[in-house]
Amino acid sequence: MKIGTPKELEAGENRVAMTPDSARQLQKLGYDCAIETGAGQAAGFADADYADAGVTVVDSADALWSESDIIAKVRIPLKDELERLTPEKTLITFFNPGGNEEGLELAKAKGANVIAMEMVPRISRAQKMDALSSMANIAGYRAVIEAGNNFGRFFTGQVTAAGKVPPAKVLVVGAGVAGLAAIGTSTSLGAITYAFDVRPEVAEQVESMGAEFVYLDFEEEQQDGAATGGYAAVSSPEFREAQLAKFRELAPEVDIVITTALIPNREAPKLWLADMIAAMKPGSVIVDLAAEKGGNAEGTVMDEKVVTDNGVTIIGYTDFPSRMAAQSSTLYATNIRHMMTDLTPEKDGQINHDMEDDVIRGATVAYQGEITFPPPPPKVKAIAAKPKEVVPELTPEEKRAQEVAAFKAQTKQQVTLLAVGAALILGVGLIAPASFMQHFIVFVLSVFVGFQVIWNVSHSLHTPLMAVTNAISSIIILGALMQIGSGGALVVILAAISVFFAGINIFGGFLVTRRMLAMFQKS
Ligand code: NAI
Repeated sequence: MKIGTPKELEAGENRVAMTPDSARQLQKLGYDCAIETGAGQAAGFADADYADAGVTVVDSADALWSESDIIAKVRIPLKDELERLTPEKTLITFFNPGGNEEGLELAKAKGANVIAMEMVPRISRAQKMDALSSMANIAGYRAVIEAGNNFGRFFTGQVTAAGKVPPAKVLVVGAGVAGLAAIGTSTSLGAITYAFDVRPEVAEQVESMGAEFVYLDFEEEQQDGAATGGYAAVSSPEFREAQLAKFRELAPEVDIVITTALIPNREAPKLWLADMIAAMKPGSVIVDLAAEKGGNAEGTVMDEKVVTDNGVTIIGYTDFPSRMAAQSSTLYATNIRHMMTDLTPEKDGQINHDMEDDVIRGATVAYQGEITFPPPPPKVKAIAAKPKEVVPELTPEEKRAQEVAAFKAQTKQQVTLLAVGAALILGVGLIAPASFMQHFIVFVLSVFVGFQVIWNVSHSLHTPLMAVTNAISSIIILGALMQIGSGGALVVILAAISVFFAGINIFGGFLVTRRMLAMFQKS
């Protein structure tokens, strides 16, 4: 079968759905590849690069659509493009099925199969096909770069001969994929970065990236007046008020605000209001990534850059990925290539459109003359929706009873262990000489203590524990070295073996510790 990629028709779209590299991989799956002449130009891929990668360069869109069995493209297809579909063809593209009734009807009428890339379910197996995430990642990065381009100062603080420069303060609202990418970029440029999200569980992730999570002064307020007593629902007016109050407090301080807050398939909530914009310093910049859904900031104009009366720049571009077309095409083409790998289990250049496969089913919006959107929920749980362990609420008496029972069980286990140990020592003591017994008792006790200590350490701490055991290994080596000179061949051999194993423990510990430290170092 042949996979073809046409030139994007949308004005200003620089991306392309196939790169020379992805074409090489597609050919390994058994497909022939074709590209419309000039399709990769704006992303930095010339026709000659494609030809070198074994891709047929086709002169016209007409020829490309009619020759190809599978068409891979980026933007939501225009009517003219959908008109070119036939029942044997499969189209893989962004499609916006939720808001593209007309497109779905046309695909159905044409009998073609359509895979919508934004519908790839967020399950771990499908991460490599998740084009929404790969594009949002680029948008987050680019939002910071764009902000920097419109901001008159450094991100990082500097002390120079010409004076001291304070670091810029950046606030990222919404720490999803785009938000985290923005946080990473901002902190690596040296800005003091704050982040807020309605999901407090991302706080740790935000902090691990060097930013500060903005907590709301909320719980206390709730407790004095409220019957709920706990942390109120995110959708409640109280929560929104607390959120806005916090933003109002931050507005005069921050230089750059990047908003990415969105709940899928809803209008973007208005979070950065006119009075906050008025409170910002002149020269500050807002980049509103949610501009396409109405924007998080009041005053955002979609696809435009506006400057307010008090000198705040608001950027509402919706084409950040296209502004970095070489990068985004590479990632998007890779997402498509992984989708094709999933569709080609036999690697024989033939599509196997398996509607039992969660990922393929989830993303297929039209199939054999039927509209198959919305899909049924995936059989595998989404990554984010980790089922919470249900812990029943216990009364204080039940809790106490549970603790007493646990204490009794543990004491019983320890007493049994000690009794068995004592019996063993006494048994051995009947036949063994006193000098042996002295060492043997120390040995048995150290086994008991070692077992108790290590058994009670949680698994996640076993690696740092290894570093501590280096101290024990050093004692073993010292003891062994003292024994080596002391005579009998057996003692020498045993001492040598202990030096060897303790050595493995020490050097292994160093290696593991080095690897762990390397994980936290910036390359
Ligand atoms: P995501 O779903 O991964 O993240 C959105 C985050 O916003 C979530 O963490 C959510 O908890 C948070 N959020 C929702 N309501 C909130 C509220 N009221 N206050 C604070 N946080 C709130 O989405 P992703 O992939 O990061 O995309 C973010 C936005 O970027 C979307 O609007 C998307 O359309 C847009 N985008 C824009 C592009 C552009 O060129 N302008 C390109 C790609 C994406």
